[in-house]
Amino acid sequence: MVAAVRVHKAGGPEVLTFEEVEVPAPGPGQIRIKQKACGVNYIDTYFRQGMYPSPVGLPFVVGNEGAGDVVAVGPGVTDIKVGDRVAYVTGLGGYAAERVLPADRAVKLPDGISYEQAAGMMLKGMTVQYLINRTFKVGKGTTVLMHAAAGGVGLILCQWANHLGATVIGTVGSKEKADLAKKNGCHHTILYRDEDFVAKVKEFTGGSLCDVVYDGIGKQTFPASLDCIRPLGTFVSFGSSSGPIEAFNINILQQKGSLFATRPTLNNYAAKREDLLKTANDLFDKVGSGAVKIPINQKYPLKDAQRAHRELEGRATTGSSILIP
Ligand SMILES: NC(=O)c1ccc[n+]([C@@H]2O[C@H](COP(=O)([O-])OP(=O)(O)OC[C@H]3O[C@@H](n4cnc5c(N)ncnc54)[C@H](OP(=O)(O)O)[C@@H]3O)[C@@H](O)[C@H]2O)c1
Repeated sequence: MVAAVRVHKAGGPEVLTFEEVEVPAPGPGQIRIKQKACGVNYIDTYFRQGMYPSPVGLPFVVGNEGAGDVVAVGPGVTDIKVGDRVAYVTGLGGYAAERVLPADRAVKLPDGISYEQAAGMMLKGMTVQYLINRTFKVGKGTTVLMHAAAGGVGLILCQWANHLGATVIGTVGSKEKADLAKKNGCHHTILYRDEDFVAKVKEFTGGSLCDVVYDGIGKQTFPASLDCIRPLGTFVSFGSSSGPIEAFNINILQQKGSLFATRPTLNNYAAKREDLLKTANDLFDKVGSGAVKIPINQKYPLKDAQRAHRELEGRATTGSSILIP
């Protein structure tokens, strides 16, 4: 039996239950790892609330991300061995001292990347990698609007887009978050709880608006985000921390300037093993070279998962949060 955090009934942070669970031996194509750190992500709150149904039913162990040492390998696993340091993004089962996962979802960690860094960046950092390289190609001269710029995905995206030569505008919930976003690559910040972010984007861009908006907020920033995009620009809706965007008439995209809109997820962008490895290796390169830093600003013992969720949903966190088993 190992320590884990399970949900028996969908609900608020109080449904996260710290308890002992049985972890099976790895089956064909699987590995078992002893985790050193588990990532906390906004998606964990969607599963906890039941907004995303659990594919394994109830109860389930929350969490999709972690890093640790391989302690057993199942039949047919050839490229990963006991003792390897690995990290992953995969299906539920993350908030646990040990877990089993498909070997083809694990990535070997380079020496320079710590378990904690890995748990704080695999999901968020690989998301940034595909968002700025594949969903929309960010480069020199691109103007980007990033919502929640001081969040987990936010601080990584601001640094990486800046490194690629973009002008980065970020919305943030407080003055302290604005300072932090500026230290992490944001050129301009907007206090979107007090200021009209569309008006501020017009001001910062001299009216030319942004090439791309990355919106993980959803309900509260839609449709205003569309007014921040130049004609033929791209709206990337990649999350819904304030609630999902309601159904809308697609003609709005024509009215706002023949915009492109997409709702991407890492699952699709890293579905093939070769894409997973390319995405992870690019992230490792950027972090290894120091171009992108992973701010782990909240670290909790595994038993404090409820507090981690309260703080994340209460907008009280910045950068990445991890749980230590
Ligand atoms: N599609 C994908 O592949 C993918 C992958 C990873 C993450 N995501 C999405 O990316 C987004 C960010 O994830 P994260 O884990 O890095 O979280 P996060 O950004 O660290 O936390 C959420 C932030 O959203 C802002 N926010 C605005 N309105 C909010 C509200 N009503 N309630 C709560 N927060 C609100 C808060 O920042 P302020 O106080 O500054 O407003 C808060 O700190 C989420 O929507 C997540 O689902 C998508």
